[in-house]
Amino acid sequence: MSVNVLFVCLGNICRSPTAHGVFLGKLAQQGLTHIEVDSAGTASWHTGKQPDPRTIKAAAKRDYDLTPLRARQAIEADFEQYDYILAMDANNLTDLEAIKPAHYTGHLSLFLDFLPEQSSLKHFTEVPDPYYEGAEGFEIVLDLVEQACDGLLEHITHKA
Ligand code: 4NP
Repeated sequence: MSVNVLFVCLGNICRSPTAHGVFLGKLAQQGLTHIEVDSAGTASWHTGKQPDPRTIKAAAKRDYDLTPLRARQAIEADFEQYDYILAMDANNLTDLEAIKPAHYTGHLSLFLDFLPEQSSLKHFTEVPDPYYEGAEGFEIVLDLVEQACDGLLEHITHKA
């Protein structure tokens, strides 16, 4: 049985593609083939576009290739497909709650709920939007995403 994971932010060009690429990298590293990953934005502005060049560059420095990814909008049908739908911030979560069908039995939450307890970044509950920030904003996104991906993977593999 496969497990399907969807990461969601606002534009799907900074935070959720980072999570998408980092999680794919960790799955490949561990040889895990039963987990499917995608990402989406609550907004449709950037549909069809590659991740932001600053996102691609920051991820590449840590050996994650985000260039194949293309933005799309999150839709109600995603709730039929994804076991885990993980929002980068509270606004994204509110927008997802608004389109969530009443019968959804999967897991919809903030992504950082999966930050390991011992993380030095545990005071973060949301992944901060780096779009209007400098280069350091993209490094914080990566730091948070790498750690939360570890926590998520641990959760999924120990549950399976
Ligand atoms: P993301 O960042 O939600 O992490 O992809 C943003 C990307 C684009 C915009 C805002 C946030 N925008 O306003 O276009």
